[in-house]
Amino acid sequence: MYDKVIASKEYIENILNIKPRVGIILGSGLGDLVHVIEDKQYINYSEIPHFPQSTVKGHAGRLVAGRIKGVDVLCMEGRFHFYEGYTMKEVTYPVYVFKMLGIKNIIVTNACGGINTDFEPGTLMIIKDFINLMGTNPLVGPNDERFGPRFPDMSEPYNLKFIQLAKEVADAHHIAYKEGVYAGFMGPYYETAAEIVMIKRHGADAVGMSTVPETIVANYLGMEVLGISCITNMATGIQEMKHSHERVVEMAKKASVNLCTWVENLIGAM
Ligand code: HPA
Repeated sequence: MYDKVIASKEYIENILNIKPRVGIILGSGLGDLVHVIEDKQYINYSEIPHFPQSTVKGHAGRLVAGRIKGVDVLCMEGRFHFYEGYTMKEVTYPVYVFKMLGIKNIIVTNACGGINTDFEPGTLMIIKDFINLMGTNPLVGPNDERFGPRFPDMSEPYNLKFIQLAKEVADAHHIAYKEGVYAGFMGPYYETAAEIVMIKRHGADAVGMSTVPETIVANYLGMEVLGISCITNMATGIQEMKHSHERVVEMAKKASVNLCTWVENLIGAM
């Protein structure tokens, strides 16, 4: 895998006019952030050696590079989900490439369901910790010490300094936010009501089908992570309505206005 990651990295590096410092992974319906990137360069996943390909609706499947507030960024427009059938290594492959490109800081966003009843659809939540309910994780298997340690620490999966900075930037721009624990399920079905009751008791504030694998690998690689969730609906049993992917994407698009302002100014302050 190491040689493949290097080959992907070299391909990207040869195209880019910038040296990205911050990596961004955009969740479903949260793609508007790319509009604030200046001097954009696009690289389709399909052209990058060894890069997996994107399939889910609402995801374009390309890297967008450029500058936000003078900071060189590299953004994944479209991520890989475990439920699509990718292996955990494929899901997290881009994070390895980001690291090899010299990126130290990564912002991960997602659309998810709200469990905490202080939340409502449209709430933006700073992720303070995760619960991995995906049944596996990307570090299972032989370890390559060139990437990271066999037994990585996971006591601060979301960087406390970034969380503090995110709060300050949100306050300065009058952006409302909450904080909470994100539980990652494998999906692709929306959870049962009983599953939501179970994880609520265990401290989960929100539930989704992504973000956890990328967070684990970023920490393993020694990167610092900021996670922001957009609550697009209340979780099963908390809202009466049945779930629909269309509504999830629609709500994410609405919330993405504030999310963009937030992330744009955060990057400027990083
Ligand atoms: N559950 C899991 N993933 C989700 C949800 C949800 O309720 N909403 C958006 N993504």
